[in-house]
Amino acid sequence: MKTISPNINWVASVHLALSLFGLPYVAGTSGFCRKNALGRISSLCSSASVYMSPAAPVKARCPVYPGSDTHRFLVSDDKVDWDTDWPQYSPVNYTAPTVLKKPVWADPEIGAFSPQFNSLDGSVDRRSHEGPYHIQNGKPLNPHGRTGLEGRGLLGRWGPNHAADPIVTRWKRDSTGQLVLHTNSQLPVLQFVSIKRLDCGEWAIPGGMVDPGERISQTLQREFSEEALNSLQASPSEREETQKRITELFDSAGLQVYKGYVDDPRNTDNAWMETVAVNFHDESGNSVSELPLQAGDDAGQVSWIDVDSSLDLYANHLHFLETVAKERNAHW
Ligand code: BGC
Repeated sequence: MKTISPNINWVASVHLALSLFGLPYVAGTSGFCRKNALGRISSLCSSASVYMSPAAPVKARCPVYPGSDTHRFLVSDDKVDWDTDWPQYSPVNYTAPTVLKKPVWADPEIGAFSPQFNSLDGSVDRRSHEGPYHIQNGKPLNPHGRTGLEGRGLLGRWGPNHAADPIVTRWKRDSTGQLVLHTNSQLPVLQFVSIKRLDCGEWAIPGGMVDPGERISQTLQREFSEEALNSLQASPSEREETQKRITELFDSAGLQVYKGYVDDPRNTDNAWMETVAVNFHDESGNSVSELPLQAGDDAGQVSWIDVDSSLDLYANHLHFLETVAKERNAHW
């Protein structure tokens, strides 16, 4: 079986990380992002084979904030909940310089700026998929608890930052077109379009941020076209043919597999990622499956990858694939 990068011995790695940090995490938690403070564990940026309950985010407490040398204030499992009294809590304040430069996709600093939280604020949707969130001292509070870092980090919006993840699948077939059954499970093998993210080097679903005023269905289609088919660089005629097939697939009834908070390493106490993940399946294999994949925009590489529980993917993307595989009665 082809896999991207088998999740070898991650439990042992997590145990090692936990003991290095002296943290009271338990086995079954997922990996940390990036290197730790000691620079010793670089392989723990991975997802885990076990999906973490969103009630105990782990990636959002990674010791070193992505793309920076900023260390989070360490938060143990029992202190994550805002309702747990913790007067000593002293989160580090960090907003990335790229965000402070006020690009179009980012909010200004709170003060002169007071957005309409928990509502559709002009064209920016500041509602959470998980219901109303609290505001403290004018700033939104992460509904899944403390992260050890306040400010926005790499995220542009105060509060929820909305993304959408298109999971495009087909059946794996042999050279005669017959479905390939997995040797262990005897179930047909699904393949999905995966990209290697340029920001962290992890394999992921080709998702992206929902633009202001954009419908999620539009984001799903746009992100897939930009990242997996490099539509931004295509000639007008190529783009037309590609768009036709994609529109057909994305107009078909997609299977929504997730909607809500994401345990993302970029999350902070005041800004967090949420996503809607939808599966679009090319059952016959002669629609989008035939289009040549080409990495574009935020993607370094793109490939059809066999869906398997040993994959090592960004954020909670492995959990989305598990749902897809089980729903479609495919090998997992
Ligand atoms: C990615 C999505 C991901 C989301 C939450 C976005 O930046 O493009 O694929 O699900 O972040 O982690």
